[in-house]
Amino acid sequence: MQVTVNVNGTGSTVDVEPRLLLVHLLRERLGLTGTHIGCDTTSCGACTVLVDGVAIKSCTYLAVQADGRSVRTVEGLVEGGKPSPLQDAFKEHHGLQCGFCTPGMMLTAEALLADNPDPSEEEVRWALSGNLCRCTGYVNIVRAVQAAGTAIRSAAVAAAPESKAAEPEPADAPVMAGGSQ
Ligand code: FES
Ligand code: FES
Repeated sequence: MQVTVNVNGTGSTVDVEPRLLLVHLLRERLGLTGTHIGCDTTSCGACTVLVDGVAIKSCTYLAVQADGRSVRTVEGLVEGGKPSPLQDAFKEHHGLQCGFCTPGMMLTAEALLADNPDPSEEEVRWALSGNLCRCTGYVNIVRAVQAAGTAIRSAAVAAAPESKAAEPEPADAPVMAGGSQ
């Protein structure tokens, strides 16, 4: 059967078997090997991608379920040919570590920060609880996600004066009647 899916902004129509998993569509049919397979049983999170902005584990999600939807993989995090704030933060804070789990960690973090750009450490750890690190630990990863949130918030503040300049000036505040008291 045919599946039409938009992956990282590019639409594709692919003929698939109904049993084909999304991770295999991405890796083997579309050549997007940044999405990894660590367990095949929804346990490790290495295969996490975004479907319509929601983080899902593509090792247990059928390709046909993505029909008509937008999928974002780690290859789609780059912004205007440059690393995104999240990618920069993972590099800066050594959140990459082994690299194998990193794409899934980043996609889960991307979904978290879209919802909550100022997460507490506890909120980051909770969001990443379905993404397993088997090598080093979570400290640098959590720091990287929080640093990315800070960068995203700073960029939003930096962009704010432009939007304010376009706003009409507020009316003068009413002058209070009466003398000094
Ligand atoms: Fe999908 Fe581990 S490969 S959760
Ligand atoms: Fe990838 Fe630990 S950083 S498994």
